[in-house]
Amino acid sequence: MSVWRNQMRTVVLAAGAAAFISMAVSPASAADRKYPALGAAATPEQIQAWDIDVRPDGLGAPAGSGTAPKGEAVYIEKCAMCHGDFGEARGRYPVLVGGHGTLKDQRPEKTIGSYWPYASTIFDYIKRAMPFGDAQSLTNDEVYAITAFLLNMNDVIDSDFVLDASNIGKIEMPNAANFIDDPRPDAQAVKVADLCMKDCKPEIKVLGRAVIIDVTPDKGGAAAKAAAKEAAAEPAAAETKAEAAPAAQVAAAPAGDADAGKKVFNKCKACHVLDSAKNKIGPSLQGVFGRTVGTADGFKYSKAFMAAKDKGMKWTDENVAALVASPKDFVKEHIGDDKGRTRMSFAGLRKQKEIDDLLAYMKQAGGQ
Ligand code: HEC
Ligand code: HEC
Repeated sequence: MSVWRNQMRTVVLAAGAAAFISMAVSPASAADRKYPALGAAATPEQIQAWDIDVRPDGLGAPAGSGTAPKGEAVYIEKCAMCHGDFGEARGRYPVLVGGHGTLKDQRPEKTIGSYWPYASTIFDYIKRAMPFGDAQSLTNDEVYAITAFLLNMNDVIDSDFVLDASNIGKIEMPNAANFIDDPRPDAQAVKVADLCMKDCKPEIKVLGRAVIIDVTPDKGGAAAKAAAKEAAAEPAAAETKAEAAPAAQVAAAPAGDADAGKKVFNKCKACHVLDSAKNKIGPSLQGVFGRTVGTADGFKYSKAFMAAKDKGMKWTDENVAALVASPKDFVKEHIGDDKGRTRMSFAGLRKQKEIDDLLAYMKQAGGQ
């Protein structure tokens, strides 16, 4: 039913749009339009070309007529290769004839004859969309004739019936009575919360957006990847230095600018707080410097972080710096999980200065 309903809705919408266009632009002079510099008034021919829908009561049916014998000739030439000589269909193309009385079966055969409620929709559909690949190539007489042929094959009209605009809205289709109005409100008008039936949350709160929490790169594509790769080389170099002189480095306060670091921390804010023990998407970072990895109260860490905790790894300046430079590489290189799996989905900071500034701010704002 829904397929057909969607088709009908499209048809009705198209009709509405056409009416709107003709109302809005029929005083065709540019000066009458609200934005005269934009676009051009649609000509009557353009409107007519769009306005091809035929409604269930036949409204919109064009001049012309046809009978089943005439339609059969066109059908054999233009439709039979897909829908079969008798509408039985070749391969997996839609069956057009038969299926009557099967709608309650386990495998109902829905065809334009057994299922569709209005003959005018058959005309509309064929005129609009068929033959597949060469849509809207048929004349109105041809479409009337093919529609008559298909209705006749479905035992709806006799073979000498002359189908035209005056009667297409009056033909009784076998399944018409089984279509009923759907009184439910339009789904889009209903709030998601109203659809919840049990264990409903009082309200939905957006905690972060992909761009802000840095899972979406600012600029996509190859250029961004290349830039990221280049930048990744910087922190790596810094790490090598750190390894060379570990003892001295651990104690050294970063030479960063805390004010600038506050801005950098905006990238962390969606997931972390510094000034309380509250966990968000990520664990609280209050007092994180010197703390053992994976020990914020009540936070559920990844396996890698739990492994680091078991090893007694601490959040030294170097470790925090390496983590924010690339969480994935940090987990690979410092914790030893090959795939670098962590729950911190953060792309990483590219510039050493950003990292220095960030650490300075974090220490000032509750990290230490
Ligand atoms: C190249 C193959 C092909 C040709 C030729 C073709 N059709 Fe179709 N027809 C299709 C396909 C595919 C669909 C289903 C389209 C869809 O669901 O989007 C279809 C759907 C239809 C339907 C709707 C069936 C339903 O139950 O939803 C009708 C009616 C129809 N075609 C009539 C015709 C007529 C009449 C002609 C000749 C003028 C014709 N077709 C030519 C492939 C074809
Ligand atoms: C998308 C959310 C998210 C963002 C953005 C994010 N983090 Fe994290 N962070 C997490 C999660 C989740 C964890 C826990 C990791 C795990 O268990 O694998 C974590 C862990 C940490 C830890 C280790 C804490 C501990 O208790 O062991 C630090 C330090 C940290 N993040 C700092 C930062 C900093 C600094 C930034 C900003 C540059 C940042 N994070 C950005 C989600 C995030």
